[in-house]
Amino acid sequence: MASSSHFICTSCDYRSAKWLGRCPSCGAWETMTEREARPRGVATRAKRIEATPFPDITGSDAQRASTGIEELDRVLGGGLVAGAVILLGGEPGVGKSTLALQAAAAMAAAGRRVLYVSGEESAAQVRRRGERLDVTSAELLVAAETDVGAVVAGARELAPVLVVVDSIQAVRCAEIGSLPGSVAQVRESAGRIVELAKSSAIPVVLVGHVTKEGTLAGPRVLEHLVDVVVQFEGQRHHAHRVLRALKNRFGATDELGVFRMTDRGLAAVPDPSELFVGQRPVGAPGSAVLPAIEGSRPLLLEIQALVGEPTQGTPRRSAVGVDSNRVAMILAVLQRRAGVDLVQRDVFVNVTGGVSVVEPAADLAVAAAIASSASGAALPDRWVVAGEIGLTGEVRAVSRTDARLREAARLGFDAALVPESSPTAEGIERIPVRRLDQALERLLG
Ligand code: TYD
Ligand code: MG
Repeated sequence: MASSSHFICTSCDYRSAKWLGRCPSCGAWETMTEREARPRGVATRAKRIEATPFPDITGSDAQRASTGIEELDRVLGGGLVAGAVILLGGEPGVGKSTLALQAAAAMAAAGRRVLYVSGEESAAQVRRRGERLDVTSAELLVAAETDVGAVVAGARELAPVLVVVDSIQAVRCAEIGSLPGSVAQVRESAGRIVELAKSSAIPVVLVGHVTKEGTLAGPRVLEHLVDVVVQFEGQRHHAHRVLRALKNRFGATDELGVFRMTDRGLAAVPDPSELFVGQRPVGAPGSAVLPAIEGSRPLLLEIQALVGEPTQGTPRRSAVGVDSNRVAMILAVLQRRAGVDLVQRDVFVNVTGGVSVVEPAADLAVAAAIASSASGAALPDRWVVAGEIGLTGEVRAVSRTDARLREAARLGFDAALVPESSPTAEGIERIPVRRLDQALERLLG
């Protein structure tokens, strides 16, 4: 029988019978590549699968190696798993190379060999950065290399406990014609590195640049290829950085690591709640404190809102750190169920410190900050606010109130406005509420 060929998009695996300039599925240009299909009717010899009785399966309690950086270990779910491929993403300048080098150096300082492949900077540049970070270990091997074949061969020969590739957009596979950073290159290079990690059990950290829009430059497929995706976030003019897991085959994805960029590299922030609410204005309208849960940790965050004077044109609405759709819903509920007039008024909402909150437990704090700014009255000074808001104006239960309240009590807060069903906690007064209007009445009088 005749063999036929088809075309596959190297970005999203879309298949087509004919060549197309642009992939109709993901919209990428010139990613359709031809594949020979196996001639139909030719049987291949089937490989026998190996099936193991469930209790005999070993290796389920994956051994984890510490990176020497506690915050990073936590985000990874307890350290590095053998053969794991970790994608460390972030905008240029956020500190990815610094974090990767610090982890590499910490492992090397413990007497274990680490290979740091720099595709963007010369070895001398890496050394200059390392000197600021007090790197001295001879177990840290630095290679300025962009050829992925050389990286893979080098890693096999040197057998390090960790390989860092900085960055995946800078390396290239000689067999592929396209430029470094192109979809095909990134995909193929990452594929080769994943193969190395899986066959050698060496964990690999791939540094990847993220564009302003928040997507990884290069193909989305990278996220599917790797085991763990961690994102390094921060605002340009803020010293602190938040590391979070977006995907983790070996652990939870909601862990958070908080760092501060100093002139000697990244330092862990041991008490992030203190950092985020420590500088809060006292007695100012438009500020509410949310006892959030980020990963396994409670974390106090300040939510600020500013409501403008009525305007003629279309009012502006902007939200940083909270989902703007969620804010739109809260505005509608405030208007309809709590009588807060927001029509024709600008509304700005911001989570201070450059942190993002995704949990609905933030609703009530967002609503309280907006209502406070609209009315010009400040919330009680040492109160925290948590609760999900429903469309009928009801305040719904949130998870782990006890942990939230303990954290608030630890930082000296006196009272917590929380959904009715919430349990009490020691050291802090619990003020249960059922409805948004009732909550605002308690908060703003
Ligand atoms: P870098 O790790 O190069 O970022 P990325 O790899 O994500 O592009 O670091 C970026 C910034 O951090 C750079 O502006 C310099 C600053 N920096 C410090 O403030 N202190 C330090 O000790 C180091 C190494 C860098
Ligand atoms: Mg870098």
